[in-house]
Amino acid sequence: MRVVSGIQPTGNLHLGNYLGAIKRWVQMQDEAECLFFLADLHAITVFNDPAELAANVREMAAALLACGIDPERSTLFAHSAVPAHPELAWIFNCVARIGWLNRMTQFKEKSGKNREGASVGLFAYPVLQAADVLLYQASHVPVGEDQKQHVELMRDIGAKFNADYQVELFTLPEPLIGQTAARIMSLRDGNAKMSKSDPSDMSRVNLTDDADAVSQKVRKAKTDAEPLPESMDALEGRPEAKNLVLIHAALSDEEPQQVLARFAGQGFGAFKPALADVLVETLRPIKARLDGFRADPGELDSILARGAEKARARAQPTLDAAYRATGLRR
Ligand code: TYM
Repeated sequence: MRVVSGIQPTGNLHLGNYLGAIKRWVQMQDEAECLFFLADLHAITVFNDPAELAANVREMAAALLACGIDPERSTLFAHSAVPAHPELAWIFNCVARIGWLNRMTQFKEKSGKNREGASVGLFAYPVLQAADVLLYQASHVPVGEDQKQHVELMRDIGAKFNADYQVELFTLPEPLIGQTAARIMSLRDGNAKMSKSDPSDMSRVNLTDDADAVSQKVRKAKTDAEPLPESMDALEGRPEAKNLVLIHAALSDEEPQQVLARFAGQGFGAFKPALADVLVETLRPIKARLDGFRADPGELDSILARGAEKARARAQPTLDAAYRATGLRR
């Protein structure tokens, strides 16, 4: 099993990233060879202030380390430090079809009504994402549900390359999507994904929020007037309530049903403080470690430099084979 996944270094890590992806990245380290990267080449598909981008790469590296990514066991790097990613992405641009990319829902969401004004990079970014993973012959990609379509596209690109050039070069990876936390929703709107781009900070829990902020966000989270039911099925049609139960279950490593067994018949006046407690307890050690990593930017840079060196070495044979297969000379 070889695991590869990435995250954009934009702003803070939020609870959706943590429960949807990072928590499982940390667990996968015991089971597989892991490569994790900061997708800074993705971040620039929309304009980023250069100084802020550089700071965000360090900040996100610190956050991942604080969550438990261990640079001795995993390869952690910024993908801009491994030129094989954009090199393979170019070859893949010539394999992927415009029709495939036109179907990507994330591009539609991100470009909105201004499709003509979006960067070409934003449109083509799922192709770079395919290179990010296929370069390392990954078997599994742990992601939240919003990335499932991109992982399917990776498989299509890898399969078409293998077929066009009559090689068995690329491994076709499987998405690894958790059941409970596949899609954590906004605290203000149970039908919208928790996201860093939501203008309201009250919609998300950031991993850097202190206990007061966490309690306030949970207290103000949108809910309904009904008590909690006995079964998850009875939460259909109550997206906010369902989201809070799923968040609790993911944090306490329980089945959602077990959480309901404790709270069935009770209202949110009882449930919310319990949820805030689990959240604060989860975040406390992460925040403490984060402060330590932030205080040592030199160490962060050297961890990322070591990771990039390992990743470059890992990527090279597949990149060379892709050049050879296409008839390109170096
Ligand atoms: P990004 O930076 O938007 O998100 C990082 C990870 O967090 C997950 N996630 C969520 N999961 C559950 N609920 C949510 N509300 C939520 N919000 C975010 C995402 O699914 C993701 O796993 N394109 C990617 C980064 C990337 C990548 C890759 C991922 C670049 N190359 C190769 C996997 C493999 C992105 O923008 O993720």
